[in-house]
Amino acid sequence: MSQNAHVFLTTMCLSVAIYIIQTYAIDKGTYLKHREAILNKERMEITGGEIALSADESKVNQILMTFKIKEIEYGKQNNLFPPAMHFFKAKPLIEKSDVFRIIKAMPKGAALHLHDVSLCDIDWLIKNASYLPHVYVCQEEGASMRLHYFDKPATDCYWTPLKDWRSKYGKDVVDQWLLGNMTLLVDDPVKAYPNIDAVWKKFLDTLGVADGLIFYAPIYKAYYYQALQEFYDDNVQYIEVRTLLSNVYELNGTIHDKEWVLKAYIDTLHQFMKDHPDFSGSKTIYSNTRFIEPSAVQDDINLSIKFRNKYPDHFAGYDLVGQEDPGFPLTYYLDQLLSPSQMSPPVDLPYFFHAGETDWYGTAVDINIIDALLLNTSRIGHGYAINKHPEALRMARESNTPIEVNPISNQVLGLVTDLRNHPASSLMGEGFPMVISSDDPGVWGARALSYDFYEAFMGLGGEFADLKTLKKLAIDSLHYSAMNLAEKQDAMRLWQKKWDMFIQSMLQEYGNLIK
Ligand SMILES: *[C@@H]1O[C@H](CO)[C@@H](O)[C@H](O)[C@H]1NC(C)=O
Ligand SMILES: *[C@@H]1O[C@H](CO)[C@@H](O)[C@H](O)[C@H]1NC(C)=O
Ligand SMILES: *[C@@H]1O[C@H](CO)[C@@H](O)[C@H](O)[C@H]1NC(C)=O
Ligand SMILES: *[C@@H]1O[C@H](CO)[C@@H](O)[C@H](O)[C@H]1NC(C)=O
Ligand SMILES: *[C@@H]1O[C@H](CO)[C@@H](O)[C@H](O)[C@H]1NC(C)=O
Ligand SMILES: [Zn+2]
Repeated sequence: MSQNAHVFLTTMCLSVAIYIIQTYAIDKGTYLKHREAILNKERMEITGGEIALSADESKVNQILMTFKIKEIEYGKQNNLFPPAMHFFKAKPLIEKSDVFRIIKAMPKGAALHLHDVSLCDIDWLIKNASYLPHVYVCQEEGASMRLHYFDKPATDCYWTPLKDWRSKYGKDVVDQWLLGNMTLLVDDPVKAYPNIDAVWKKFLDTLGVADGLIFYAPIYKAYYYQALQEFYDDNVQYIEVRTLLSNVYELNGTIHDKEWVLKAYIDTLHQFMKDHPDFSGSKTIYSNTRFIEPSAVQDDINLSIKFRNKYPDHFAGYDLVGQEDPGFPLTYYLDQLLSPSQMSPPVDLPYFFHAGETDWYGTAVDINIIDALLLNTSRIGHGYAINKHPEALRMARESNTPIEVNPISNQVLGLVTDLRNHPASSLMGEGFPMVISSDDPGVWGARALSYDFYEAFMGLGGEFADLKTLKKLAIDSLHYSAMNLAEKQDAMRLWQKKWDMFIQSMLQEYGNLIK
C-alpha cells in the first residue's frame, strides 16, 4: 500500500467514524433544544428584544400579535401584503388594518427626519391655504404650475386668480389639478416613474409648486402649526425638522431673512405648546442642497454657529439635502465641514447628514456613509447603504449613532420595491441603533408617522417584532433626539404617562379578546 493510499484510507475511516458518532449523538430532543436556544437568541437581539413587558403590556402584546399574524397570513394567502406593495396601492389596505389602528393610538415619541415643506397633508394646503384671498396661479406650456399670493400680481408670468380658474373649470377639477401637481400620487406609479431620476424630478417639481403657497408668511406659520397638529394628533410628541430657511414673502413684496424664518418656527412652536401642554417641542436643523459651492457651505456653517449660540434651545445643527446620487459628496465640502473643529476655540456644531441614500455601491455618494461618521454626525439620514460597509456599521455601533429609516420614502423614491427587502430589516434583526421617520409624508399622501411605523413593524420587523420592538423604537426616538438631558427626561416622563394610558385603553378596547 502506498503512503497516499494509507493516508486516504485512514481519513476515510475517521470520517465514517465521526459521521457515525454524530448521527447517533444528536437526538431530536437535543436538536430542538439547540434550535430553540438559537431562535431565542435571535429574538433577544431584535430591536427591543431585551425589553421585559409588564403583565398588562404582555396582554396588549398578545392582542397586537394576534392581529399582526392574521394580517400576515391574509397577505400570504391573497398576495396582498402592504409592505410588499407600492405605498399608493397599500395605503387603503393599511387604513383598514387593526395593527395600524393600534400603532396610531400608540405614543410613538419623536419623528426626527422630516423636511419643512412636505410635513402636512396636502389636503390642508388645497382646502385651506389655496382658498384664501390673493392666491394666483400660472401655468406655462411645458413648465410646472406656479402658485403665489399677490396683492397685485407680478408680470413675469400670466398670473390668474385661482378663484377665476375655479369658477371657469369647476372647483373639484382645479382641486384635483392642485393635488396632482403637489403630490406624486398617480394610479400607476411604476409606469409614471420608471426610475429614480424620473421620480426625483417630479418630487422636486411638487415641492416647488407647494412652495409658492407655503412661503407666504402667514401661511408659513399656519403650515407649521398644522404640521405640529398632525403629528400631535398621530400621537407623536416631538419633531425635528430640516429646513432650508428659504425666502418667506409678504404680499407687499417684503422678503424675510433666515433668522426671521427661524423665529417663525420658534414663535409658532411656543403658540402650539401653549395650546397643547402635553407636547415636548420641536427643533430645527438648517440644511442646504448638496449642489451648492463650498463657499456657500462655509456661509451656512458660520450662520449655523451663530444660530446655535443665539437659539440654543431650538437650533439643532446642519445637514446637506437633495437627491444624493447627482449631488456633491460630503468630501467636496470637507474643508468647510471640518472648519468648526478648527476654530479657536473649537466649536461643536452638530451634524445630521443625509448619507447613503443610494443603490450605487462603492461610489463617492455611497461612501458618504463613512464621511458622515468620520464627521461625527449625530444621526445618519437614511443610511440606506450602511449594510454594505462593515466598518461603518462598526463605527456607528461604537459611537451609538442611529440611522433614520424612512421606509415609505425609500420605496416611493425608488430605492427598494418590496419593503421586506429593505436593508434596515436585517439591522432591526440585530438591534442596530435606528429611529423610524417619514421624510416627506405630504408628497406621497401619507400623514405624520404611523404609516411608516406600520411599514417598519410589519415589513422590516417580520414576525419577530412585537410590542417590545415598538416600545423600543418609541423610547429610542426620544433618546436619539437633539434634546438636552433635562428635556429628554421631561419628554420621557410625558411619554411614560401616555404609554401607560395607551396600555390601559388597549386593554379596555380589546380586553375581551384575551384568553
Ligand atoms: C385655515 O388657515 C387659517 C390661517 O391661514 C386658519 O386661521 C384656519 O383655522 C384654518 N382652517 C382650518 C380648517 O385648518
Ligand atoms: C397640473 O395642473 C395642470 C393645470 O395647471 C393640469 O393640466 C395638470 O393635469 C396637472 N397635473 C396633474 C398631474 O394633475
Ligand atoms: C409689508 O408687509 C408686512 C406684513 O404685513 C409689514 O410688516 C411690512 O411693514 C410691510 N412693508 C412695507 C414696506 O410696506
Ligand atoms: C467663518 O467664521 C470663521 C470664524 O469666526 C471666520 O474666520 C471666517 O472668516 C468665516 N467665514 C465666512 C465665509 O464668513
Ligand atoms: C469626532 O469625535 C472624535 C471623538 O470625540 C474626535 O476625536 C474627532 O476629532 C471628532 N472629529 C471631528 C471632525 O470633529
Ligand atoms: Zn430626507
